[in-house]
Amino acid sequence: MDKLVINGPNRLMGEVVISGAKNAAVAIIPAAIMADDVCKIENLPNIEDVKSLFTTINKIGAKCQFLDKHTLKIDSRGVDNICATFEEVKKMRASYYLLGALLGRYKKAEVAMPGGCDFGTRPVDLHLKGFKAMGAEVAIERDVIRVWAKELKGAAIYMDTVSVGATINIMLAATLATGTTTIENAAKEPHVVDVANFLNIMGAKIKGAGTDVIRIVGVEKLHGAEYTIIPDQIEAGTYMIAAAISGGDVTVRNLIPKHMDSLSAKLVEMGVDVEEFDDYIRINATERRLNAVSVKTMAYPGFPTDLQPQMAALLAVAEGTSKITENVWEKRYQYTDELKRLGAQINVEGRVAIITGVNQLTGAKVDATDLRAGAAMVIAALNANGETIIGDVKYIDRGYEEIEDKLNQMGADIKRISM
Ligand code: UD1
Repeated sequence: MDKLVINGPNRLMGEVVISGAKNAAVAIIPAAIMADDVCKIENLPNIEDVKSLFTTINKIGAKCQFLDKHTLKIDSRGVDNICATFEEVKKMRASYYLLGALLGRYKKAEVAMPGGCDFGTRPVDLHLKGFKAMGAEVAIERDVIRVWAKELKGAAIYMDTVSVGATINIMLAATLATGTTTIENAAKEPHVVDVANFLNIMGAKIKGAGTDVIRIVGVEKLHGAEYTIIPDQIEAGTYMIAAAISGGDVTVRNLIPKHMDSLSAKLVEMGVDVEEFDDYIRINATERRLNAVSVKTMAYPGFPTDLQPQMAALLAVAEGTSKITENVWEKRYQYTDELKRLGAQINVEGRVAIITGVNQLTGAKVDATDLRAGAAMVIAALNANGETIIGDVKYIDRGYEEIEDKLNQMGADIKRISM
C-alpha cells in the first residue's frame, strides 16, 4: 500500500502537461470492441483504471497491445466472450460500458455489478431502462447484470436525471440497433462528445452529442479507427486549483479552455488571475489571499462534482465563509473529516458544506477516501505547514498519471513510500 509524504508548504511554479481524459478513455476502450476490426487509441492516460480495462477486454478475447504507454492497439476480431464477471470488472464503475458495447455487438452481455468510488447509491436504473426501451430483457442475479435482446430496436428515450454513464451506454447500444434512437435530457459532458466522435469515425451515425438531444441512426457494423482522446478536464482543474492554493504561477498545458469555464469563473471570482490561450491556461495566484465563494455542482456546463473536493481544499484557506452545494452525489463529503485533520473548518449538513477559511492548514496523517478526495488531500498538503502523509494512494492512482512527478517538477516536495 503506497503512501505519499508531502512536506509543505510549497509554491508551484512552472508548467504541467495534462493527460488524456480518464472518463473518455474508460468508455472509448469498450466502444472499440464493438468493431470486428482493429482500433488504435492515442493519448490514453497511464492510470490504473485503463490498466484494469486492458486486462478486462483481453479476458473477453480482444488482443490488446500497448504500442507505448499512451497508445493502445485493440484487435477485437477475437472477442468471443460476452461474459465479464471477473475481479477487474467489480473494481470499476465504468465497467458498465461493457453492457452497452456487448449488447450492441452481440445482442447479449453479462457483466458484474460495477464498483468504483463510494459516494452514496450509484444506481444503473437509467442505463437498464434505456436498454429495455430498445427491446432488451434485463435480469440481475447475484451481482451480475444480464441483458439480451432478439432484436435491438431504436427508441425515444427520456432521461429522468442527467446521467453521463446512461447517456454513453445507451449511445453505445443504439449505434448497432435497428432504426433511430433519440436520447432526450442527455448529458453534455466533454467525454460524451468524445465517445460520439470516436463512434462516428468507426462508422456510427450520431448527431447532437454535446446538446441535450442526441439522435443515433443504427448501423449494421462498425469498422476500425484511429483516435486521439481529449485532455482530462478534471485533471486540468485539479492542477489549476493546486496552483491557486499554493500561491503559485503555473501554466497548465494541453487542455481545452472552454471545458474549464465553470472553474475559471470561480477562480477569477476568488481573485486568481486566469489567462486563457488556445490550448493552455496560466494561473497566477502569487499576489493575494483568495476570497471565499459559493459553489454549486451541476451537470456540464455547470461546476463538475468531480472538482468539488479539490475546491473545498482551496476554500478551506480562502478569506471568509464559503458554501458548497453538492447536487450530483448524495454522499460526497466523506473526505471532509480528513480535511479537518489538516485544520480545515467545515460543517456539513445534507448537501451543503459551510467552510470557514483558516490562514493555513497543518500537516497530518490522512487517507484518500476516494479518487477525487485523494486529490483534495494532495492539494491541501501543498498549503499545509509540515508533513502530510496520505494513505490509500491506490485511489489517486486510479485516475491521476504520475501525480507526484508532475507536482514535484513545479516545486512540490512529495515522496512515494511503497509498503
Ligand atoms: C460519471 C463520472 C463520475 C462523475 C459523474 C458525474 C465516469 C466513469 N464517471 O459517473 O466521475 O462524478 O459522471 O459527473 O464518467 N443516476 C441515476 N440512475 C442511473 C445513473 C445515474 O439515478 O442509472 C444518478 C446518480 O445517482 C447521480 C446522477 O444520476 O446522482 C449522475 O450520475 P452519472 O452522471 O450517471 O454518473 P456516472 O456516469 O456514474
